[in-house]
Amino acid sequence: MKNNMDQKMNEKNGRNIIEVTNLTKIYNGKVKAVDNVSFAVKEGEFFGFLGPNGAGKTTTINMLANLVKKTAGSAKIDGFEVARQSDEVYKRIGFAMQEVGLDETATAREMMQLHGRLYHMPPSEIKAQMHKLLKLMELERVADKYVSAYSGGMKRRFDLALSLLHKPKILFLDEPTTGLDPHARRMIWNHLKQLNKEGMTIFLTTHFMDEAEELCRRIAIMDKGKIVAEGSASSLAKKYRVKSLEEVFLKVTGHSFQEEELNANSTDPYARIRGV
Ligand SMILES: Nc1ncnc2c1ncn2[C@@H]1O[C@H](COP(=O)(O)OP(=O)(O)OP(=O)(O)O)[C@@H](O)[C@H]1O
Ligand SMILES: [Mg+2]
Repeated sequence: MKNNMDQKMNEKNGRNIIEVTNLTKIYNGKVKAVDNVSFAVKEGEFFGFLGPNGAGKTTTINMLANLVKKTAGSAKIDGFEVARQSDEVYKRIGFAMQEVGLDETATAREMMQLHGRLYHMPPSEIKAQMHKLLKLMELERVADKYVSAYSGGMKRRFDLALSLLHKPKILFLDEPTTGLDPHARRMIWNHLKQLNKEGMTIFLTTHFMDEAEELCRRIAIMDKGKIVAEGSASSLAKKYRVKSLEEVFLKVTGHSFQEEELNANSTDPYARIRGV
């Protein structure tokens, strides 16, 4: 409850910092991953984006970060059109992807240095941020070791530290606590709450209903490329006359494993061995 009040106070002037209008993504001319979706997120909001596997969450978040090209519609970050004004957008966003894509042949400190330089941060600021974030994520002890030696949890924590280095206004997190033990999950939750309290807008996808209930003031549930429900966890439970967010989720999203689509762009990893 207190958390919700803090978040409300933070949503400065009710300004939309993310604005999505009729956004659509069709892969390979046939898989409609995101189907004419519209929503907005206010500055300072902690926004949860839920949905079953294959609903289109990652595709949406990747379009917002300009990692995937939209087919139609518009996505604006802080007033800038993502596809046309990407430099302005990159400055404002931090991003931790669903698949942690770290360079395993570098150390945490080396990667942070590089990341900071790419963002044109002055060396003193890189140093200060590096010190702060490595400490925050409890990675100081391993900061000079190769990332390839990190445990899954260390990689996730480091990925999050890296996404925060350039002090983004908006943080996009695609399943940031998947694979983490309960201690690490709590630790990340506490940091995210603190960052949000300090004014950062956070856009989070998760399959953990407790995580969404604990962190997100507003939630959108996506199914088969469309948003099927939107509101706070408690207002959604009330609306659908159930007791928990999980029950809302099960009610508003249908799921048939038979209909699940494959990613048609993936390549055969054994093609060479098979000689195809
Ligand atoms: N690069 C791609 N090329 C072709 N199809 C893709 C690609 N990426 C995703 N898809 C397809 O688009 C649809 C939406 O996938 P997406 O990864 O956005 O879902 P998601 O909601 O993030 O799922 P999950 O919860 O499993 O992460 C799926 O049918 C998926 O197979
Ligand atoms: Mg995903």
